This record gives sequence, C-alpha cells and structure tokens, in this order.
Amino acid sequence: MAMLEIKKAGDPVLKEVCQPIDHIDKKIRTLLDDMAETMYKSDGVGIAAPQVGRPIRAIVIDCQEEHGLIELINPVITFREGAVTDTEGCLSVPDIYGEVERAEKIKVEFLNRRGRKQHLTAKGLLARCVQHECDHLEGRLFIDIAKSLHKGVQQ
Ligand code: CO
Repeated sequence: MAMLEIKKAGDPVLKEVCQPIDHIDKKIRTLLDDMAETMYKSDGVGIAAPQVGRPIRAIVIDCQEEHGLIELINPVITFREGAVTDTEGCLSVPDIYGEVERAEKIKVEFLNRRGRKQHLTAKGLLARCVQHECDHLEGRLFIDIAKSLHKGVQQ
C-alpha cells in the first residue's frame, strides 16, 4: 500500500466528471487499497479517486460506524429523503469548513472490488459522506454548494 498525494482545490482534476470503471482489475484494487491508506493516514472519513488525481468513479469511506471500510465503484444514489444541514470539510480543502444541506437518508447502488452489485441504505454521517464523495465524481466540491463557509472547526 502507498500513501498518495491529495490534490487540493484549484487542481483541474477535481472539476472533472469522472469516468465509469468498466473493468475492475488489480490496478483498481491497488488504487482502492492506496486510497484507504491515504484516507486513514490523513484522518479523513472518505476519499474519492479524483482527489488522488484519478478521474474515475471510485470512492472509499470509513465513518467509524458499524459498516467500517466501504469501497464503492460506479456508485449511483437511487433514493434520497429528507434534508439536514451540517458541517463538512474535505481533505482537498484544508482548514475550510462549511454548512451543507444533504438528504437525510439515501440508497446507493455500486460495485464492490469483486464486481458484485451492492445496495446500501444510509442515514446520518454515512449518508452525508456518500453524497459528499459522489459529488467529487461529478467534479463538485462542498465549497461549491455550502450555505456558508468558515475557517477551523468552530464557527
Ligand atoms: Co471531499
């Protein structure tokens, strides 16, 4: 496994609409491993492939809830319900936090690293995290949609 460089806001790769992954090979599995290591070493709860310079549709998430590490390839949010505003940050936008409205509950379909179709229903922090990371795959950052932004965790 390897720690990857995290691209910061202003890097054009973060603005790209990412490509679907049509063949899950060893390179993709290694990328997922490296993304997880990069996330854990950076104290993040999620990271999307464009954040490490790869504009393809892969995400890793670990919100330290019951699910543990989740790898999502070609994720599609198929259901959204409710709306909650809460504070978000991003490894690509250091030291900036913002208030972002997200659906309260979602369902997402994706492929796992073996190419098997998975369904996940999420609420709370995990639902927020999935929506934030899926936005990265559309070239969208939380600072683009936040109701307000502030420096540091405290408002
Ligand atoms: Co982010």
